[in-house]
Amino acid sequence: MDTPRLREEFRSRFQKDPLVVMAPGRINLIGEHVDYNDGFVMPAAVANAMTFALSASGSDRCNLLAVDFDEGVTFSIYDLNPGGSWVNYLQGVMDGFIRRGAHIKGVDCIFGGNIPAGAGLSSSAALCAGFAFALNEIFDTGFSRLELAKIAQYSEHEFAGVKCGLMDQYASLFGEKDKVLLFDCRRLIHESIPFQFSTHTLLLIDTKVKHSLADSAYNDRRRSCEEGLAILRKHYTEVTALRDATRTMLYEHQDEMGEETFIKCLFVVEEIARTLQAAECLKKKDLSGFGELMYLSHWGLSQAYEVSCEELDHLVMAAEEDKELVPGARMMGGGFGGCTINLVRSGREGIFKERVRKKYFAAFKKEPDFYTVTLSEGVHVI
Ligand code: GLA
Repeated sequence: MDTPRLREEFRSRFQKDPLVVMAPGRINLIGEHVDYNDGFVMPAAVANAMTFALSASGSDRCNLLAVDFDEGVTFSIYDLNPGGSWVNYLQGVMDGFIRRGAHIKGVDCIFGGNIPAGAGLSSSAALCAGFAFALNEIFDTGFSRLELAKIAQYSEHEFAGVKCGLMDQYASLFGEKDKVLLFDCRRLIHESIPFQFSTHTLLLIDTKVKHSLADSAYNDRRRSCEEGLAILRKHYTEVTALRDATRTMLYEHQDEMGEETFIKCLFVVEEIARTLQAAECLKKKDLSGFGELMYLSHWGLSQAYEVSCEELDHLVMAAEEDKELVPGARMMGGGFGGCTINLVRSGREGIFKERVRKKYFAAFKKEPDFYTVTLSEGVHVI
């Protein structure tokens, strides 16, 4: 449903004017699975977004309607519960406000969007970040964008049970048009780097594999990182996160860690270094150097961190066959499905898509989806 219709729908249901807020999904160019290790990541907000029309209900009651699922619910802000549905994500955000001592009340809200679910564009982060931003506006609770990102993350941790980092929520709230964010996950600040090239386009290819394994595997990877970190901390007081670790430190304590933990931690240390290197390439407009790092990131995620899947690997291999056409490609997000992100020569996307479509169909008997992305402004009022 487009924004004018969403606004109209709200007016006809609730007989009042809503506040309308748009919250974008995100992509990540490089820096995967390092946000929860205090690393550097390079996300950007995209034009695909979640849109909310809402206002205070005047009581403790919340009346929410997800237009895309045609599903409505009513509950009290005194009865907020964890769970797996979109309702719980929004309840988690409200709980986050209340736990921070904010005075909020019930809301009337209609929302919908065009972020493909399960494609790795962080529709859940957009849902939480947009709702948090809207609550902050209508109840005048005065939280900064960073605090809102943390409230959105709190909802994922405590209400959805995924111990995610802060990248997705941060990108949705801080995104800038035609820019990527080099986000420092320790200092919680970013540097914006222009990303607008007439020569290349960003193309997402959706495997259409839903990452059902992802939540438990995600938490497992986090645990491996924590185990490796605990061992390093016994030897190096200066190490407070894997960001502070070096390859040498890891090799020195490889036996103590065991193979599995060692390999996972080594990937993290290398991926953080790659992200900083990629930022330098971007500043020099060296897209082939940048793209090469994307491929390295992918194969690290696949072979070492083990969060890829056959379909994602297939798509990256198809891209890698012609690096002149596609200088960089990798899986994106938590993994086990969703999209690859491809840096494709402008004007030749059609050739690439056709080739991929055929190959993918021959291998998996289904067609992938393609989305060209544009980098957009973060959460804002319309
Ligand atoms: C998911 C999480 C993020 C991040 C990525 C992997 O999207 O929500 O915090 O860890 O996976 O980079």
